[in-house]
Amino acid sequence: MNDVKLWEYVSSRIDDMSILDRDETLWTLRRIRNHLGGRKAESILEIGNNEGAFLCMISNLLKKGGLLIGIDSGAWNTEVNMDLLQEVALDAEIHLIKGRSEEPETYAQISEVLGGTTLRILAIDSLHLELQTRFEWKIYSSFIRESPAVAYFHDIAGGFGQIDNLNRKRTTRDFWNSVKYYHSYEEKRSKAHDGPMGVGILFL
Ligand SMILES: C[S@@+](CC[C@H](N)C(=O)[O-])C[C@H]1O[C@@H](n2cnc3c(N)ncnc32)[C@H](O)[C@@H]1O
Repeated sequence: MNDVKLWEYVSSRIDDMSILDRDETLWTLRRIRNHLGGRKAESILEIGNNEGAFLCMISNLLKKGGLLIGIDSGAWNTEVNMDLLQEVALDAEIHLIKGRSEEPETYAQISEVLGGTTLRILAIDSLHLELQTRFEWKIYSSFIRESPAVAYFHDIAGGFGQIDNLNRKRTTRDFWNSVKYYHSYEEKRSKAHDGPMGVGILFL
């Protein structure tokens, strides 16, 4: 299925697709596909998978039989739409790990699932605090063992940050602005809405 059709299909089956922006997500898939030179990823990890909307979408970039891995602490009390995920990621080996990303056990489980496979796509969309995002980037990017690869960050425009900033907390936006210049990167803030979100990709 092409990305647009997949978006329409997933949107019709996920409870709250407003968690993602259509233009930002389609742009993300295009930019990652381009960076990988059209080849498909052998492994994808998302931290903060929630109901699985992004996992469904990014599975379009996964190789047949590839590893599609999600981590979620369950803080939002949501369940992955497993029927949908299995349907769209038909040929994937799916691993959903319930745990907080900062727990060593979670890291150990990912390490076991990946085995020697390099991580090709790392997606981070969990707690959105600057230190948490920095920790997740530092720790989980160690599974990226070869290029080309990407790290994708959701909510670089503020998002949860807008709320957190009211409490004077530093967020994913602060993390992103401090890390992006050290890498080849692109970012997109959709014009479709002027609220939160925004996505950033580091090309590794
Ligand atoms: C903004 S949602 C992610 C949306 C998701 N990417 C999607 O496509 O629906 C944030 C998710 O991060 C999870 N989360 C929060 N803190 C976490 C942590 N420390 N480790 C792992 N997951 C966490 C929450 O339970 C929630 O499901």
